[in-house]
Parts: sequence; structure tokens; C-alpha cells
Amino acid sequence: MAKMWEGVTSGITDSLADDFNSSIGFDSRMYAEDIKGSMVHAEMLSNKGIIAQDEAEKIIEGLEGILSDIENGTLKIDYSCEDIHMFIEAELTGRLGELGKKLHTARSRNDQVALDLRLNMRKEIDEISDLLKEFIGIICDKAEENKGIIMPGYTHLQRAQPITFGHQIMAYAMMFLRDIERLADAKKRLNISPIGSCALAGTTYNTDRFFEAEKLGFEGPCLNSIDGVSDRDFVLEILFDISAIMMHLSRFSEEIILWSSWEFKFITLDDAYTTGSSIMPQKKNPDMAELVRGKTGRVYGDLMALLTTLKGIPLAYNKDMQEDKEGVFDAVDTVKMCIKIFIGMIKTLKTIPENMLKAAQKGFINATDLADYLVKKGESFRNAYKISGKIVADCMENGYILENYPLEKYKEKSRLFESDLYDAIDLTECVNKRISFGGTGIKSVENQISVVREKLK
Ligand code: ARG
Repeated sequence: MAKMWEGVTSGITDSLADDFNSSIGFDSRMYAEDIKGSMVHAEMLSNKGIIAQDEAEKIIEGLEGILSDIENGTLKIDYSCEDIHMFIEAELTGRLGELGKKLHTARSRNDQVALDLRLNMRKEIDEISDLLKEFIGIICDKAEENKGIIMPGYTHLQRAQPITFGHQIMAYAMMFLRDIERLADAKKRLNISPIGSCALAGTTYNTDRFFEAEKLGFEGPCLNSIDGVSDRDFVLEILFDISAIMMHLSRFSEEIILWSSWEFKFITLDDAYTTGSSIMPQKKNPDMAELVRGKTGRVYGDLMALLTTLKGIPLAYNKDMQEDKEGVFDAVDTVKMCIKIFIGMIKTLKTIPENMLKAAQKGFINATDLADYLVKKGESFRNAYKISGKIVADCMENGYILENYPLEKYKEKSRLFESDLYDAIDLTECVNKRISFGGTGIKSVENQISVVREKLK
């Protein structure tokens, strides 16, 4: 096919070089953004008298036709074109003849691709945020259901203090809320229009970049045209934000994998989100959670790849920048899929309260409460800590747990112990006494759920 840029070069390229150079295989997903940008561009050109009004109308009508034909499947993308911008322009020229060639006045593919990608990423940010909101809603529901279900809370993966399952998973709601905020923040910097930067230096035509920016829903045009075509910070920010979401999903995955193992058995995953083994009949594997954890590595790779691509390239546009798209599209598709999977997996998972409670009873996780009991009776915390530690050691040696360690023995360790100590170390008591703001007590978790639900509105 004759190259649009045939002129100083013959336009005849090696076919392997064509394939290597081509981006239409992945940038065709921006066809709607490309067409939208072109429509606004044509309107601006006619507003400013650069092309005639009836010409702009015909161009816009032609572009509308192309859009609906792609959408209803009658127009197939021609993968022999170099990129989506070339394809649409060629198609328009095919339909309108010479007039189609006027569309590219006062613009370049350099500002065109920057525009398309910003529009595309803006849409993706909204989609990811909506999915996260839905997911947080599901976490709140699950937390509500399990706000009184006691489990061991861990530090260093050692049983630490009793908490509720509701409290534990609400921690994830906080992470995903921050992720939404981060995306919204990235969107602010993304929402600046590069169109009209042209190749790099702006243009001699009397264009109206403010009109184009406003029509396309941007805050305004970028202030520096060289930056307009060179900047891919918005892609990096989105990649980082997606990486953070994946990191959060991956930590959640890790806990789900642990909790559904026989060693813990705190939860069962619905069959719909597990797989069996081809050889071991007893297996029910948490593949979805493992895959999410695994895919996190790939998304980090997408971020590192673009950071590395950009680090050495001079201003303004360089073809290296074409490498921005595959990675970020991969990251966007991956994170959306992972959130969708998590929504179903969390919605359907069932907790096994007896096992959580049993685990909570075993690890002396009320030892802090035992010490606090003595403090309330007048002992200093440091002494109370030592006394409680000795009691735990004695229990371990003689096969007791704190709950059935006899009162006489307690009294031998401190004369402050009375029979009400057993109430103080009762696990439900321990949880509900944690009334500090943000703590694990039922009232506090209820508050967390309602504040988060309010934010989601
Ligand atoms: N396919 C190109 C990209 O993705 C579009 C911009 C091409 N510009 C150029 N001067 N060759 O970056």
C-alpha cells in the first residue's frame, strides 16, 4: 500500500519493517477516541475559517459513518495500515475523496496519539473506579455479615490479638478507597488537552486549542506544545495506580489462599472460584486468587517497562513512545478482570466461624488482655506484662490455656487476680472492649462500614 508519508522517501519499505513498525494491532482499540478527536478538530478548523463549513460538515458526517460502521461490524479494521490514525484517515479519504485529505490540517499524529491515549485512559480510569466501588460495597456486605466473627489477628503471621473477620476485611476496603482517590488524582493531571501541539512546535494556522479542549471535556490545552507531545507521565501514573491496586489484591489473595488451606480452614471458596486437580481427587485449589497474585508481577513489569522506555529519550516525539500502549492496555485489562473475579469470589465465600474461634483460643491471644486486667487493678504495665508472660509459660508447660488456668495459680502469680479475670479474658469481651476509634470492637467496625458506604454514594 502507498504510504501516506511518501515524499522525500520512496515510501517503499521492507515488509518485515512494516510489521515491526505497525501499531494498529493494539491501537485500534482507540478508534472511537480517534474519531471523536477528529470530529472536534474538523469543527474547530471550520470555526476558524481554515476549512469551509460545508467541508467540515461532510467530514464529520463521514467520520460518524465510519464510527457506526466499525461499531456494527460492517467496516473491518485494515491491519495493513500502520496505525489507527492512518486507517481512519484513509477510510475517510476513500469515502469523501480529496476532501478527506483536509482533515489533517494543523495537527500531527504526534498530538493525535497523545490525545487518543488521554481520552482512552480517562475512560478506563472511570471504569476501574466504578469496579472498585462495586467491590468495596461487596467487602462492606461481607464485613457486616461477619462483624461478630472472632478470629486471630496476626503480626509476623503469629497469632497476636483477637479481632473480627469484619474488621480484617474492612482494612482492604480502606486500601481500595485510597486506590480510587489515587486514580481521581491522576485524572486531574491527565485531563489536559495536547491536541493542537501538532508535531511539536504548534502551528502557523490560527487554531483554537481552547475550543477543542473544552469540547473534549478537558480542563484546558497544555501550555507547552513540546511537552504536549512528549509527556507520558499520565500513563506512568495510571500504571503505578494499577500496580498499587494489584498489590492490594495480591495481599488479599495471599490471605485467601492461606485461609482456605487445611492449616487454617477459616473460609471456603465457592466451587465457582476454585479448580480441582487432575490427579488428586481431594483438591480444591484457590486458582483465581493465585492467578491474581501472579498477574501482579506482570503489571509491575508494565510499569517498569515504560519507566525504562522513557528514561533516555530526548524531546519531543520518538517512536519509542509507541511502546506506551501495549503495557498500559495489558495493565488496564488485567486489573479490570482481577477486580471482577474478586467481586464474585468475595461475594460467595463462606466463613467457618468455629475454626476461626478455635484458632483464636489456642494462641494465648488474650495475654495482652490479661496484662491489661492487672493494670486496671493498679499494677504497672511492665510488671503486668512480665506476670502474664510467666503465666503463659506455665500454661504451655502444663497444658493449660488462660481460660482454664485455675484461680489459685493465678493468685500465686499476683494477689490482684480475682475470679472476674475470666470475664476479662473472654474472647468476645476482648474484642468488644476494643472501643478505640478504628478498633476491632463491633461498634467500631459498624462505624467503619457506614462511613465507607457513605463515601461510596
Ligand atoms: N503509532 C504511533 C504511536 O503510537 C503514532 C504516532 C506516530 N507518529 C510519528 N511521528 N511516527 O506512537
